[in-house]
Amino acid sequence: MPDTEPDGLKWQTEVWKRMSSLYADEWDERFAPIVRAIIDRGKLAHGDSVLDLGSGTGSVAMRALDAVGPRGSVVGVDLSEEMVAVARERVADRGLDNLTFRQGRGESIPASDQSFDVVLSSLTLMYVIDRAAAAKEIARVLRPGGRLIAAVWAGPGECDIVRFQQAAGSFGDSPPVPGVGPGALADPTPLIKQLADAGIGASFESEVFEFEFSDFRSAWDAMAGVTTSELSADRQREAQSAVLELMYEDGDRARRFRNLTHFISAQT
Ligand SMILES: C[S@@+](CC[C@H](N)C(=O)[O-])C[C@H]1O[C@@H](n2cnc3c(N)ncnc32)[C@H](O)[C@@H]1O
Repeated sequence: MPDTEPDGLKWQTEVWKRMSSLYADEWDERFAPIVRAIIDRGKLAHGDSVLDLGSGTGSVAMRALDAVGPRGSVVGVDLSEEMVAVARERVADRGLDNLTFRQGRGESIPASDQSFDVVLSSLTLMYVIDRAAAAKEIARVLRPGGRLIAAVWAGPGECDIVRFQQAAGSFGDSPPVPGVGPGALADPTPLIKQLADAGIGASFESEVFEFEFSDFRSAWDAMAGVTTSELSADRQREAQSAVLELMYEDGDRARRFRNLTHFISAQT
């Protein structure tokens, strides 16, 4: 485990706490096609027991529940108490006892051995600080023959959200922990090796997904507002000008973001 882990965890907890309030408004709809692609690749069957790792506001977990039906069950686990609270709130009026959300980390999943048929993880594993530990944990909680499907972003050359976030992020302090961030699994082969070391054979395929923002300001607020909020007003303006110049060749107008996304599939 990196010795910067406690600082990294504190920083991440704060970032996701602040993201939780805008996530449902800004991201749930834009990420919905990726969520559908994960569910399709998961080939969930009625009665399956599913873990949604990095469940955020619960979009994957809720769709997974529809697929596994009343005899199945879904547990969402997320680092952020605030994300867990939003997810719980979203399903509160459905009175479900087979969909639960818990605070916890991929590095130490709060579940017993061999308790899931399928682990789904949407846009999360690139933020996990100790991915070798998470790979072992995924292997531990999956039943023999169980499956993992995880979506992660490609690199900045092929994935606009990563290019935007990395360009904006370059104006602030470096994250207190190395090797995490939106483009950290641009090359998924190190994770595939970590999964193999944990006893899970994995491979990946890639697909492009798009979403749109109506102008630069709304894109900035959603993609960089939280991570650049500590910068001085001057530095924020400097960062915004640089990202606008980098990514808005045709000026400030509606823009589609084209995001190559890797889907890692693994089986115990
Ligand atoms: C980009 S959001 C994705 C949320 C959701 N899966 C979706 O697709 O809408 C990433 C989520 O991963 C969570 N996360 C980050 N690191 C984590 C870790 N080590 N263990 C569990 N969750 C983590 C964050 O709190 C956040 O909710």
